Amino acid sequence: MHDGGKILTGLAVFLVLALLPFWHNAVGGTAAAPQPKIVTQEKECVAPRETIRSTHMELLNTWRDTVVREGTRTYMDARGKTVNMSLTNTCLSCHPNKKEFCDACHNYLAVSPYCWQCHVEKKESA
Ligand code: HEC
Ligand code: HEC
Ligand code: HEC
Repeated sequence: MHDGGKILTGLAVFLVLALLPFWHNAVGGTAAAPQPKIVTQEKECVAPRETIRSTHMELLNTWRDTVVREGTRTYMDARGKTVNMSLTNTCLSCHPNKKEFCDACHNYLAVSPYCWQCHVEKKESA
């Protein structure tokens, strides 16, 4: 009976050591954080990095609605360049590595946009 204290202490130490890696990840450890890989030689996206990062879903919806409802296909981007409003031909022309780029973030977040049922991925990512 008098070993109870030691056992409890041992158990506590064991639990702390065993759980440390999980705790480390939960507070922002780098183990599984996504590293979307930029492969294009271009330096800028169609919007500044922080903007595209948080709003690309809305931008894609706007592009789709504009193309489908208004029949307009050109878009003046943040760089002042005119681009085609196209998921495959524009986004994936600079980001052809869908698996290492789009999917790197989405898998981490457990979101899977259903776009690819209809929209074509670039060959590089197949
Ligand atoms: C002209 C080439 C080009 C086009 C077209 C382009 N991108 Fe980008 N994209 C880039 C570059 C370069 C970066 C990195 C920007 C930086 O580091 O400032 C980037 C960054 C991003 C990021 C942020 C990645 C991160 O790690 O923060 C997302 C998300 C993204 N692009 C999605 C898209 C989507 C969606 C489209 C189409 C609507 C698109 N891009 C079109 C070149 C492009
Ligand atoms: C830097 C990380 C990152 C990169 C790179 C990235 N996304 Fe996303 N994506 C997100 C986040 C965050 C969300 C929002 C998830 C949510 O709403 O919970 C999202 C959501 C989306 C959605 C909406 C999905 C839905 O079900 O609502 C689409 C469409 C999308 N992304 C397309 C793309 C495409 C296409 C690319 C590659 C060209 C890309 N994303 C690259 C982080 C990223
Ligand atoms: C059921 C099939 C289907 C699905 C799923 C789908 N789309 Fe589309 N999308 C279309 C069709 C058809 C067009 C019209 C093509 C055209 O006129 O060029 C289109 C057009 C677009 C366009 C403009 C034209 C282009 O070439 O990209 C964008 C941007 C777009 N969709 C984004 C998305 C995004 C983002 C998703 C996922 C969140 C998605 N779509 C899911 C069928 C689909």
